[in-house]
Amino acid sequence: MKAPYWIAGYEQFGELHGRKSKVKYECDGITFYLFSEDDIDKAKLNKICRYAKEGVLEILEDEELIPHIAARLNSALNLKNLLKNIEKYISVILDAEAVSILFFSGDHLEFFVTEGGASGRIESIPVPMESIAGTIFLNKKTMIFNDLNKEKRHFKGVDKAAKFVTKNIVGSPIFAGDIEIGVIEVLNKEGGFKEKDAKLLELFSNLIGRKIYSSLKLDEMKRLIKDIVTAITTAIDKRDNYTHTHSKNVARISVLIGERLGLSEKELEELEISATLHDVGKIGISDSILLKPGKLTKEEYEIIKSHTIIGADILSNLKHVTKNMILGALEHHERCDGNGYPYGKKNGEISLFGRIIAVADVYDALTGTRVYRKGMEKSTAYEILLRDTKEGKFDRRIVEILGELINEGAV
Ligand SMILES: [Fe+2]
Repeated sequence: MKAPYWIAGYEQFGELHGRKSKVKYECDGITFYLFSEDDIDKAKLNKICRYAKEGVLEILEDEELIPHIAARLNSALNLKNLLKNIEKYISVILDAEAVSILFFSGDHLEFFVTEGGASGRIESIPVPMESIAGTIFLNKKTMIFNDLNKEKRHFKGVDKAAKFVTKNIVGSPIFAGDIEIGVIEVLNKEGGFKEKDAKLLELFSNLIGRKIYSSLKLDEMKRLIKDIVTAITTAIDKRDNYTHTHSKNVARISVLIGERLGLSEKELEELEISATLHDVGKIGISDSILLKPGKLTKEEYEIIKSHTIIGADILSNLKHVTKNMILGALEHHERCDGNGYPYGKKNGEISLFGRIIAVADVYDALTGTRVYRKGMEKSTAYEILLRDTKEGKFDRRIVEILGELINEGAV
């Protein structure tokens, strides 16, 4: 019986079948090695355990495994996750320490560091074409470099930035059809890389090229959309005498809160856009009311309040905008005690996005410096939020998380 591809190997009576990995699962004296924490499915593993005990479980050979893995990665959501997963699988299969992907960018390669959460961009370090990666890219062939001490082309800039010591490398160019995208490098194998490793990496690179390319393009498109959205909201913030970064700040704080609440990658992306656009409806409020220096009349205040409904209306006309994203804009002035606007909804009726953005919005409004006044100290602003939460205005858990973030210096 062939083992499923998500099992890297197993060990029984000290004998290893397949390969080892960092993710282990013990069952009846057998240690299973898996590629990813996500693969720990106890029910399935306990069933497979029986076959292993009977001595009929066969781990897939590397050549069989790679197409399965490439197919699985083809369904990965975004570039960051794709790169992380490639690293996870390929380092186990080639029994190496790390994997890096470099993208060609005009006259150099960019080494990507995948960190920074949902709103964080993928950082990159430029790598010259005279480097090992550059050599692989320009030669368009898979190459092994087992002695970096003698290798002048080894570019130490990435090692320095990533606090890593590269000892040996196997690298393969990445193509999407005729388009040259970059290079995949696998680093540090005990005893050095062999010809077989080069062949496997080349096979994988051929299978994953198009996927990497489409993820890269999608990521660029998302960034562009985010930048356009931010440009619009910055204009709105400026007009409203907020600091020009208000919407951006609200988005950042909201995403940090959402992460601690365990929202998925997709939900965090939606929350980020919803929070960035929470005040987009102010575009429909005239200057004479929005910028009126004195006290507003009852009618004028009603018009101000309508920015929530106008915002939700603008968003609901956009394709691919989800219900949660619309609710974030609609409900960011609702309060849990029912004293908010536009509808006076109460705790259980207000969406999670609405409750998160409400807290982030008030905190940034209190701490941000306006044209006519200096921003409050963080601690003072938080005390106000705590007091209001005791009075039932805000979601207690969300305000607690904000407190943690303030203590950690994250906001
Ligand atoms: Fe607002």
